[in-house]
Amino acid sequence: MEVALTAALLIIVGIVFAVAFVATSTPEATTSSSIDPQSYATEVAAVLIGASVSEGEALIEANQCGVCHVSWAGRVAPSFVGVADRAVTRRPPLTAAQYLYESIISPGAYLVEGYANAMPANFADRLTQAEIGRIIAYLLSTPGGIIGGDVRHSSS
Ligand code: HEC
Repeated sequence: MEVALTAALLIIVGIVFAVAFVATSTPEATTSSSIDPQSYATEVAAVLIGASVSEGEALIEANQCGVCHVSWAGRVAPSFVGVADRAVTRRPPLTAAQYLYESIISPGAYLVEGYANAMPANFADRLTQAEIGRIIAYLLSTPGGIIGGDVRHSSS
């Protein structure tokens, strides 16, 4: 009788530990360390082949990205100044190009701290894959560069 009771207690304690383990380990599984380094890797490699930087700049103007991504305010959306350098730090282990790709096709997937989920979510439909590649090529090419309508190469 006592043995059965002890065994039952052990089983209950075991279950409690198992539940606690699952409960505490699940949130960790959703942090950045679980991002698949291969995310978008194939797509990005394909769209960047031969992507023209100058055409990317023209597309950014045509699609009015600069309406929000103004360089002088940075309130509506983060400035594109230095975006290539920051992109690589945003979502490790994603590369800068992978992160930029995700930012364009799925802006809500990761929100830059301090900004709302205000970027149009339909650029994946409005732009072709090749166009997205050109935009990424341009953003990557501008470490200190600047985009935003008519303001270019500001000193900020
Ligand atoms: C209506 C405003 C708006 C427009 C238009 C817009 N964006 Fe954004 N974008 C945002 C906001 C707000 C964020 C920050 C929140 C987030 O991370 O999604 C953002 C974030 C980004 C980021 C990540 C920047 C970083 O510092 O990590 C990239 C890259 C980007 N946008 C590219 C583009 C491109 C390219 C276009 C045009 C094709 C565009 N955006 C058009 C509002 C906009």
